[in-house]
Amino acid sequence: MKPSSRSRVLMAYFSRPGENYWYGDRRTLETGNTEVLAGMISDRIDCDVYRIEAADPYSDAYDPTVARNTEEQDADARPAIAGALPDLTQYDTVLLGSPIWNVQPPMIMATFVEAVDLAGKDVHPFVTYAVSGLGSTARFYRDLDTGARLRDGLAVQGEEVADSAADLDQWLSAAGLA
Ligand SMILES: Cc1cc2nc3c(=O)[nH]c(=O)nc-3n(C[C@H](O)[C@H](O)[C@H](O)COP(=O)(O)O)c2cc1C
Repeated sequence: MKPSSRSRVLMAYFSRPGENYWYGDRRTLETGNTEVLAGMISDRIDCDVYRIEAADPYSDAYDPTVARNTEEQDADARPAIAGALPDLTQYDTVLLGSPIWNVQPPMIMATFVEAVDLAGKDVHPFVTYAVSGLGSTARFYRDLDTGARLRDGLAVQGEEVADSAADLDQWLSAAGLA
């Protein structure tokens, strides 16, 4: 991450390239859908960007990733994050981006929000999904009890992410971010 001295907004996101769901079929993505959306956000607002990466990377293959995620959800696991975590002191707003995995954010998002100090900050979740929309994203973050103020989330269908500019602009504007 390249910290800027002025930005008060941090965008932290997780995205997994590789084989994924694509209109009922499978496709191998070189860049994950959430990463594409994150790029559209950082093109539009002044923010620092932190990419959440797993210390034990997720498989490029879809089925093993589904299986690992099921195990992690069942165990309420906190998969380790690779590298240093950001210091959130300078930020008052945090955008949290992820795919939807089994109707909620991946457990590594729980690792992240528990490892950093979100108390008193505005948190705006955004997700990409295939069919589930936000799923239980709001409950997921609320239950983690971070002390943050949870704001309305944005859900973009993964296959349509490149065409989501109008929805994105509306969400950023409603959130007071653009
Ligand atoms: C392990 C796994 C579980 C998934 N579970 C769901 C789901 O429950 N609901 C849904 O709408 N999409 C689900 N998807 C599809 C992803 O949310 C969607 O393809 C997303 O855009 C992927 O983002 P990414 O490329 O940034 O990782 C799942 C994908 C994976 C790999």
